[in-house]
Amino acid sequence: MLSSSSTSTSVPLAVLLSGTGRSLTNLLDVIRRGELDAHVRLVVASRPCRGEEIAREHGIATVIEGGDIPSGRLEGLLRNAGVTPERGWVVLAGYLRRLPIPEAYRGRIVNIHPALLPDFGGKGMHGLRVHEAVIAAGRRESGCTVHLCDEEYDRGAILLQRRCEVKNGDTPDTLAARVFALECEAYPEALRRLIAQDHQRA
Ligand code: GRF
Repeated sequence: MLSSSSTSTSVPLAVLLSGTGRSLTNLLDVIRRGELDAHVRLVVASRPCRGEEIAREHGIATVIEGGDIPSGRLEGLLRNAGVTPERGWVVLAGYLRRLPIPEAYRGRIVNIHPALLPDFGGKGMHGLRVHEAVIAAGRRESGCTVHLCDEEYDRGAILLQRRCEVKNGDTPDTLAARVFALECEAYPEALRRLIAQDHQRA
């Protein structure tokens, strides 16, 4: 069994997902390469999915919670896994449910969206729909946004954006691939910055 390495100083993460687990896989790769001083302690999936299988294959504690998770239940899962609001971060990685945020974790939950928010976000805007909308609007630029979560889909303070060109002849799939390549750098970078800020405050 593979296992993400952890040291006593590495930061505990919980990853919430609903789909393929691409962003989880990227985070695990980045951590394995020593480029992010963190470890994934818990994966919460909103349904049985490939992402949850990947988590189990890596020996990560994994829970499937269908429906909207009551905030108290989520807080219990996070604290039991050692993902505390003081040191831990909660990382949404293709999580398709609305998230009632436990009060103690306000400001400790991040999301990545495959467009330049505040445009092309909100309920139902996920996956290829986002890229279809960007192309249909005739935008010449797209990208990804890492932001803090509040109770609304794709809202909350923007932490980091990465931009790319929308090329002539792009399809939703070709644009999605270009944006996902940006995401693979943007999410770890945003987490590195957040973790560095925590260290400065400590
Ligand atoms: C991420 O790439 C991000 O754009 C969005 O969900 C994607 C991962 O979900 N938040 P999935 O692995 O494709 O289901």
